[in-house]
Parts: sequence; C-alpha cells; structure tokens
Amino acid sequence: MADHKRPESMERITTPALAEQFIAEQVAAVRAQVGDKKVLLALSGGVDSSVVAALLIKAVGKQLTCVHVNHGLLRKGEPEQVVEVFRNQMDANLVYVDAVDRFLDKLAGVTDPETKRKIIGAEFIRVFEEEARKLEGIEFLAQGTIYPDILESGPVKAHHNVGGLPEDLQFALVEPVKFLFKDEVRVVGKALGLPDSMVFRQPFPGPGLGVRCLGAITRDRLEAVRESDAILREEFAKHGLEGKVWQYFTAIPDLKSVGVKDNKRVDEWCAIIRAVNTIDAMTATVENVPFELLQHITDRITHEVKGINRVLFDLTPKPTGTIEWE
Ligand code: XMP
Repeated sequence: MADHKRPESMERITTPALAEQFIAEQVAAVRAQVGDKKVLLALSGGVDSSVVAALLIKAVGKQLTCVHVNHGLLRKGEPEQVVEVFRNQMDANLVYVDAVDRFLDKLAGVTDPETKRKIIGAEFIRVFEEEARKLEGIEFLAQGTIYPDILESGPVKAHHNVGGLPEDLQFALVEPVKFLFKDEVRVVGKALGLPDSMVFRQPFPGPGLGVRCLGAITRDRLEAVRESDAILREEFAKHGLEGKVWQYFTAIPDLKSVGVKDNKRVDEWCAIIRAVNTIDAMTATVENVPFELLQHITDRITHEVKGINRVLFDLTPKPTGTIEWE
C-alpha cells in the first residue's frame, strides 16, 4: 500500500524551481530502476503521457520507445504535433502507427456508446500489443498514471486510458508522475520544455472524438466533428477563452434537418457546441460565451465545414446533462 500513497513529506510542485528538483530526482530514480534496459510507452500526446515521455527521454534517451497510435479519433493536428515534438524536436524513438482504418472499420455501424468505448479500448490494446511484440528486449512499461488515477481506482496498477496487457507481455512499470496532481504535472511539463498547447490542454476523453460523433461513426461526420472542433478551439484561443474554460468541444448527432445553402434546400447535420466549467467533472456549469462570438463561430462552421447547416449551443449544466453527449 505504501507504494500507492503520496509521501506526506512531499512538497506540492508549484514553481519551476520545485519542478526542476522533481525532474532531477525522477531522472535519477528512473536510471536506477531501468539501468541499461529498454522501456516502452504508449504516447497519446495528452499531458500525462507527454510529460512521462519527456522525462524518460531526459533519463534514458533512446532506451525509450514511444508508440503513438493514431486511431482516427484524435483532434485536428494532434498526431502531427506528437511527431513534431517528440521525433523532430526531442529526437525520441517514436513509432507512429496509422491505425485509422482498423478502428473505423471495427466501429462501422456500432451505435451503442459503451460498445463503441469497449471497441476503441480493446483495439487500442491490440495495436499496442502488436507493436510491443515487434520490439526486442523491452523490460519496462512506462505509464502516465497520476495521483487521482490511484485515488479513484484504489491500488490498481493501471492508468485510466490504458487497459491491461496480456500475461506474456507483463512488464515492470515505470510511473514517475504517479504521486502528482494534474496542476503539478503541468508545472513539470513546462519545466521539461513541452509546448503550452500540450501542457495546458483541456481534458480529452480516451475514446476521443468517437464519443462526439454520436451514434454510428461515419468518416464524413467524424471529419465534420474534427473540423468544427478545430474552428471552436481556434476562436476560443483568439478570444482569450483557452485555458479559462475547462472543457469545450462540438458534438454531432446522427440527425439531419433541412436548411438552405446557395438558394438550394440541403439536408445536413447540426453541430452542438458545449463549453463547461467544473472543479472535478462531477458537476459542471455552462460558460457564458459572448453571443457575438457564438454567432461568428456559427457562421464559420456552417460555411467552412462540409455537411453542417446549423449550429446549436448546449445550455445544460451537469446535472442534468453530462459533459459529453454519450
Ligand atoms: P461526463 O460526460 O461523464 O464527463 O460528464 C466527465 C469527464 O470525463 C470525460 N470522459 C471520459 N474520459 N474516457 C475518458 O478518458 C471516457 O470514456 C470518458 N467519457 C467522459 C469527459 O470528457 C469529461 O471531462
């Protein structure tokens, strides 16, 4: 149990100096644990796995192999950013896996949200496992487990976004940020030189855009989710809402309504904008987004995103709504 409890003497990491001290300690600890052996990491590009990757690159360099699985459900620009930051800038061993077709084929026609989640989770493990088997001599698996993951799940050695690996692929775990809270992980990420767009990014669910392309996922509607989300994020950033609003995104139901474009009747989807604030995601309030900004975003989405003729704004707090739509 001691392994799962943050030491009482551990100071909260709130400053760059404390982050540097933490990094130095963890670099030494990882080197002592790993020696000259090889380490594997599933790198999603989220804050936690990115910080672990940067820390391990510092500690053991090319002994680390990062595997980035592009399941086709990531936000616009995310897979490219992972390659740019970790392969090009940090010179990491990065295996980029284009698994888009695999995931979308498996998800075709599946409408039930929990089944969609299960398929995405199971397929992720399968792809990761296949990549792990291709690599020789890996003895350690690094994970971006953070303290809330431990507090929420009890003494279970699994990060919420990554499930179990098969018996013959049981590696020893390297979890350098497991006693940190999210805000501390961000301070450490900043000190490690990761870009702000990675360090301060809003929460993003493991199944990604898969739970925002409501009902059965199709490639064209998924693209509309990705493009409308990119416009929303761009406009929120331009208007000072990035980093202020806790979570914001678009969701697109499998529903068409009539509209008019270029003097022609068109049956197209609607994009729903959600923008919420919360402390712990258990309850949430709706951000009071300026009406003119909503109008501007609506204008851009309906003109720039293929297949969208209406934009709606979700006014529902949690409860009674949840944050995601499925
Ligand atoms: P809800 O919709 O339950 O969301 O109010 C609360 C928070 O959890 C995130 N969320 C998920 N995260 N896998 C994840 O890793 C999931 O399946 C999942 N579903 C919801 C959601 O984005 C919000 O921050």
